Amino acid sequence: MNITNSVKYIGVNDHQVDLFEGQYVVENGMAYNSYLILDEKVAVTDTVDGNFLAQWFENLENALEGRSPDYLIVHHMEPDHSAGIAAFAKKYPQAQIVASAKAFVMMKNFFGDDFADRRLVVGEGDTLSLGAHTLTFVTAPMVHWPEVVLSYEQSEKLLFSADAFGKFGALDVEEDWACEARRYYIGIVGKYGAQVQALLKKAAGLDIAKILPLHGPILEENLSYYIGLYDTWSSYRPEDEGVLIAYTSVYGNTKKAALMLAEMLKEAGCPKVAVTDLARDDMAEAVEDAFRYSKLVLATTTYNGDVFPFMRTFIDHLTERNYQKRTVAFIENGSWAPVATKVMKGMLEKSKELTYAESTVKILSAVSEENISELKALANELVS
Ligand code: FEO
Repeated sequence: MNITNSVKYIGVNDHQVDLFEGQYVVENGMAYNSYLILDEKVAVTDTVDGNFLAQWFENLENALEGRSPDYLIVHHMEPDHSAGIAAFAKKYPQAQIVASAKAFVMMKNFFGDDFADRRLVVGEGDTLSLGAHTLTFVTAPMVHWPEVVLSYEQSEKLLFSADAFGKFGALDVEEDWACEARRYYIGIVGKYGAQVQALLKKAAGLDIAKILPLHGPILEENLSYYIGLYDTWSSYRPEDEGVLIAYTSVYGNTKKAALMLAEMLKEAGCPKVAVTDLARDDMAEAVEDAFRYSKLVLATTTYNGDVFPFMRTFIDHLTERNYQKRTVAFIENGSWAPVATKVMKGMLEKSKELTYAESTVKILSAVSEENISELKALANELVS
């Protein structure tokens, strides 16, 4: 696949992966993108996951059309992109390896070799001329690993963006970009909003025609849409006015309250209402929706003097990604000594700029008439 006359796609689609990065369900698989720049000098950008190296080398050889690579540019050392570095270095002994100083330390740790006799260390603002094409390197520490660099090709205005602007999903499946890019961003990069903001400031100074990420499609139209979403996500602003109700339920009583609240919210005119069962639905999707919407209702049971385990996991996912700037409400259930609200509030103690709803709902086993009034009050408060 030609991206431009000089830049070719040599990545692969992975439909075998069970859990991406060991935890994310990817129903539509995953793409590991890699590119080839053909100029006076020939540069390969990144490799692919270790299960697909044979296919990647085949793609590379076909695209090379008999030429040999002069450079392998390593933007990111996570193994979904770096697994082929040692094999590449062995196959093309004349090629130089181009990466940040930190990336070479990681190569030593991953491969036992930091390619000292053939490496080119690059940092912020360094350039590499390939002939008509010139790459300028932009450091992006902690987006989402410390060694990450991006590169900008001036003549064709291409940004090789590493994991930034990536998404779940293989390239041979049609699906909405924002949905799986958001789940990818919040899950994998979400903790590092400040670092993404710093990167966006640098990117604002570049004239970009195409974004070439390490996952997902190449972005080439309406780039302000994608950059705008990244700005929203990395600044922790809600993307949509709406409510996510995240619940756990042992025997269905807390679930009943959650679903009743969802109906009441819709009747009260809430623009968007999402409901998730934290024990059964995709946890990453629930975390994504918590960051997407402006308001969050946490509904759970008191369990072993704590909260139900899936709720604890969910809140941990939120706080480790710097959940903030939202309105939060609680529904608790307990057949004796309910403490769930107290525990959940305690878990969110360090989260910044949270507003707690004044209305609370305390269920003592089954949903009572009084609880229905409490749910109505909460619904009205959340849409007011
Ligand atoms: Fe796609 Fe952070 O590796």
